[in-house]
Amino acid sequence: MDGTLQYLTREELCPNGIWQLPNVTKSVLRYQILRLPKSEVSETETRYPQSPAEMRAFLVKFFTRHYFQTQNSLIDYMTSQDFLNIASSGHLRILDVGSGPAVTSLAITDMLSCILEHLEDLGEWPKGKIIKVTYVLNDTSGICLGTGQRMLTDYFRIRGGHTGRIINNDRIISVQKAFPGNMNQLRRARFNLGVYDIIIFSYVVSPLNENEGFNSLVNGLLSIEKLCSHNGRILILQDKFQTSLVRRMSKAIGISSNKQILTQYVYPKRNENETYTYTYYCCLYAPVREVIKSKLSSMVVTKQHNCIF
Ligand SMILES: C[S@@+](CC[C@H](N)C(=O)[O-])C[C@H]1O[C@@H](n2cnc3c(N)ncnc32)[C@H](O)[C@@H]1O
Repeated sequence: MDGTLQYLTREELCPNGIWQLPNVTKSVLRYQILRLPKSEVSETETRYPQSPAEMRAFLVKFFTRHYFQTQNSLIDYMTSQDFLNIASSGHLRILDVGSGPAVTSLAITDMLSCILEHLEDLGEWPKGKIIKVTYVLNDTSGICLGTGQRMLTDYFRIRGGHTGRIINNDRIISVQKAFPGNMNQLRRARFNLGVYDIIIFSYVVSPLNENEGFNSLVNGLLSIEKLCSHNGRILILQDKFQTSLVRRMSKAIGISSNKQILTQYVYPKRNENETYTYTYYCCLYAPVREVIKSKLSSMVVTKQHNCIF
C-alpha cells in the first residue's frame, strides 16, 4: 500500500523525475509576484526579505527550490503508515519556523491534497472525510508572515470545491518573535492547539546560528522536540554550502543528515522545459522515537555495567 501510494504521488508531482508545480500553486505564486513591486535588491535581501520588493525577489528565486526540496524530503514519510495514522485522526498541525512566505507549509498542503486524492481513489480514505490543517507560521519578518497567510488563504480559495472536500484550512497563526526566544509562545500554541505533527526549519538554521549562536540553536532544536507528536517528524533543510554547520548541528543533537539531489522545472517560467538540479542537506527525524531509543540504550549500558561490577 505505502509503495503504491508513494508511486502514484511521485508520478503526479515529479513525472519523469522532474518536480513540477500544480496549476493551483502556479496561480498562487504568479498572483503574489505580480502584485509586488520589482526593483534591484541584494542577495542577502533576497534571502531574508523585509520589504515588498525583496519579497518579490525571494518568490522568484527561492520559492520553488525550497518547495520541491520539502516535498522530496517528506514524500516517503507522508506516504508511510506513521503519517497516515496522523491523517486519519482528522487533524494535522504544522509548525513552520523561519517560514518565509509559508513555503514549506504550502508544499506539505499540496502534497497532502495529492495523497488524499489517491487514497480516496484507492478506496483507502472514506468518501467525504475531512482533515483539518492548523498552521503555526513563525518568522521575524512581517512581510513574510503576511505573504504566507495570503498565499495559504489563496491556495484554499482556488482549490476550493476540489480539495476543500478533503482538506480544511483550520487556522493560521503567526508568531513574529524570533526563535528560540519564542519557545513559551510555541508551547502555549501547542497547549491550545495540540502537539505539532510536522515541525520544519527550512533554510533557517544558518541565520539562527549567525544571529543567536550555535548553543542557542542546538538548545532550541532540543527543546522543540518535546512539542512534536508521537508519529510526527522534524525536518531541517539547508543548502550544500553549509556542510560544516549541518555536520556540527547533527552531531550535537544526535541525528543524521543526508545529501539530496533533485531536478525541477524553473518557475516563473523563462522558457519552456527549463530545468535545474539542486543539491541540499536534509535531516528528517522522529524525536519521540529517538528519545525512547536513547533511553533504551542507556538502560542497556546500565545493565552491562551491572554485569561488569
Ligand atoms: C532563507 S528564508 C527561508 C524561508 C522558508 N522557510 C523557505 O524555506 O523558503 C529564512 C527565513 O528565516 C527567518 N528568520 C531568521 N531568523 C529567524 C528567527 N530567529 N526566528 C524566526 N525566523 C527567523 C527570516 O526572516 C527568513 O524569512
